[in-house]
Amino acid sequence: MNYEIILATNNAHKLKEVREILSPHKIVVYGLNDLNLKPEDAEENADTYQGNALIKARSVQKLTTMPIIADDSGLEILAMDNKPGLKSARFASECGGHDKAIQTILDYLKDKEDRSARFICDIILLNEGDKPLLFEGIVSGHIADKPFGEGGFGYDPIFVCDELGKTYAEMSQEEKNKVSHRGKALKKLLTYLKINGKAI
Ligand code: IMP
Repeated sequence: MNYEIILATNNAHKLKEVREILSPHKIVVYGLNDLNLKPEDAEENADTYQGNALIKARSVQKLTTMPIIADDSGLEILAMDNKPGLKSARFASECGGHDKAIQTILDYLKDKEDRSARFICDIILLNEGDKPLLFEGIVSGHIADKPFGEGGFGYDPIFVCDELGKTYAEMSQEEKNKVSHRGKALKKLLTYLKINGKAI
């Protein structure tokens, strides 16, 4: 039987990435929209990624008994004191969208020599009765001189992953899933689900 799980998001890009990794292993991933779940807006005010992922997961847990995964990610730029980091989503909306946020970052980094950055993804798995479990993925890279590529979402056009030497937005979905912060966290989740007989 397929293992069914809810991803606590309405972000279609995230859902696609997560499905591509988990579906081949007999895991059916539902987004909130698929099940018409409308959790109350919970303020993501924790001081860690895992804390915010747990807040997202708990807000959905009030509405269902199904297992839930929630992720929280952030882009940490060394020359910006690791900002926008935990506030990556807020930074984008305060700038007026990701395109403007990207431009703000590029302007800030114009004369900076060190453009190193990393992307972090914390995934929380919540199963009724169980303690929340954490799966983390971290990817090192740097910020490109200008946006490159058409794919992906969010900060993808400026984040160059060191492993492949191109931005997330220049990668196919398959490539991004292999190297990305979310891909790495999901692979750990998958290993856990396999060990526990929930995935093949
Ligand atoms: P959240 O995890 O949905 O709260 O996302 C935090 C911020 O990071 C948002 O601005 C997202 O658009 C951005 N973000 C999350 N994951 C990715 C990714 O894989 N690529 C680019 N931006 C991302």
